[in-house]
Parts: sequence; structure tokens; C-alpha cells
Amino acid sequence: MVKPTYRLEDPDTEVYVGDCRAVLQALPEKSVDLVFADPPFNWDVPYGEWDDRKPREEYLAFTYQWLDACLRVLNDHGSFWVNIPDDTAAEIVVHLKKRGLTMINWCIWHFRFGQHRTGNFIVSKVHALYFARDRKNRIWVPEAVLEPSDRAAIYGDPRTRRTKQPGLRVPLDVWYGPLWGRIQGNNKERRKEHQNQIPEVYLERIIRACSKEGHLVLDPFLGSGTTCTVARALRRRSIGIEYSSRNAASAFARIQSGPIRLQAAGLAAPRPAPPESNSFMIHRRRSSKSMANPTPDGFETSTQ
Ligand SMILES: C[S@@+](CC[C@H](N)C(=O)[O-])C[C@H]1O[C@@H](n2cnc3c(N)ncnc32)[C@H](O)[C@@H]1O
Repeated sequence: MVKPTYRLEDPDTEVYVGDCRAVLQALPEKSVDLVFADPPFNWDVPYGEWDDRKPREEYLAFTYQWLDACLRVLNDHGSFWVNIPDDTAAEIVVHLKKRGLTMINWCIWHFRFGQHRTGNFIVSKVHALYFARDRKNRIWVPEAVLEPSDRAAIYGDPRTRRTKQPGLRVPLDVWYGPLWGRIQGNNKERRKEHQNQIPEVYLERIIRACSKEGHLVLDPFLGSGTTCTVARALRRRSIGIEYSSRNAASAFARIQSGPIRLQAAGLAAPRPAPPESNSFMIHRRRSSKSMANPTPDGFETSTQ
């Protein structure tokens, strides 16, 4: 029997050390409400025990195996998110569609500071693929993730005051902003010796939009522990699986100490205060405070 190596209660939080394909086989069928998966990209990253430089065919076979293992545990109103770069996004989309899932959104996580290169355009995005088994009956809580609309924040359009959620909208499918940069350098969230750590706000958006308190969130590639750390803070149950025992120990320590940004923002609120507008456009009234670092072409410079 597979047992979690680390465990916390209220809400139940479990960390398993091992290959997610094996651990997932031991979990009950259709028991999970939300899957977030950020797999190794096969980019020769030093993840510890895991070999991240497999022949392409082997990597694809591995990809289809873990996708299917996750599908077995996902329940009928559940959502399945995958964070994946250009190389393998298409294969994952086709595989999940063949398995009968519906694509709800193909989101883009946009960041600045991509790796410098001259041979092609600098990569500044990862795909955040959002699938569900049942579009109509999926868990979907848009009111938990609203943000100021451009129409309200930039143009001051009075019609936006008459809507059900005055001045607010569901976020766009391209995600960026001050807290959305890659976690590197002296970023406050950074966990030393972890590779490809994802920002807390990214998981906060997904967990708030696609689950409710008490629901079960699964991350088959836990890494530094972002998913379980945010899920626990938002009072969701969670399961994280990590191949490297050193990474798993570090992730568990992080889960225990809690998130950095969410804590500062008063995370206990079931519905957070909407963030500042993240529009690229300057405010139409030039004296406005929302006009941060305008450039001559009317775009703000990046605040990431
Ligand atoms: C891209 S990182 C995840 C980063 C994570 N989202 C975060 O915010 O820190 C991928 C992680 O998956 C782990 N891993 C690789 N193969 C695995 C497998 N077969 N089962 C479980 N974990 C695996 C690696 O050790 C690495 O920590």
C-alpha cells in the first residue's frame, strides 16, 4: 500500500514521494476535484533523481501515461490544468481531447526576462491548458477571481458601474502582471535549489476559480510545493507527489510555513479584494494615478 511520507490535517494535506504514475494508481478513482500538473519539460533540468533528458519518444510515452493516470482520479465535475511550454503543448491538447475532455481555455502565462537568444524570438510564455470533463457541470467560481476591467479602470466607462459586479470582470486568458514574473533572482517567493517554481498568484487563480473550500486538489509534480501551499492556505485538501525525496522534504517545510504573497494579502478571505488593474494601456485621463511609466506609444512599461 502506498502511504504519504508527509501529512497534515485540517485541511488534509498529503505529500507522497515517488513516481506519480505509480502513486496515482493507488488513489481512489474519481476522487479528485482539481488537477494542476507542471511536469518536467525534458529540458535537462537538474531535478535530483529524475532524468530530465529522455529520448523524445520516451518522454511522450511518459507524458501520456501520467495524463491518463490523472484522468483516472479526476471526478466528473473536475478540472484538469497543465502548465507546459511550446514543445509538447499540442501533443497534450490532442491527447486530452481524444480522451473526451473539453478544452475550456488555452491560457498563456506571459513573463518578461525570457532566456536571451538570437536564433529565434525570446520565449516569454508557457501554456496553461484548462480542460474539464463536463463544461456545464464543472466546478467554476468566477466571482472568486474578478479583476478591474479596462473599460472601468482605463476608460472610466459609467456603464460598468451598473453591472452585477461593478467595474470587475473575469481575467483575460493571458496572465501577466507585477506578481506574475518567473520566480528567480531575489524574488521573495523563491525557494532555493528548486527549478521552475511557479508564482503563488498563478495557483491562487486556478484554485479559487476551479474549487471550493474542502475540495481535493492534486499536483502530481509538486516541486517546491506551490500547489499544496496555496491550496492549504485556501482551505482546500490537497495531495502532492514528488519524485525527489529532497524536493518533497523542502516542499513540505514550505507547506507548513505557508505562502508569502497570499499571507501578506490577507489570504483567509474567501473572496479576495480585487487587484489593481493590470492593463497595458494608460488611463485616458492623464493625471490619473493608474498611469504608471507611460511610454510615447501609449503602453506602460513592464512592472514585472
Ligand atoms: C517543473 S517542476 C514543478 C515545479 C512546481 N510547479 C513548483 O512550483 O515548484 C517538476 C517536478 O516534478 C518532479 N518529477 C519529475 N518526474 C516526476 C515523476 N515521474 N513523478 C513525480 N514527480 C516527478 C521533479 O523532481 C520536479 O520537482
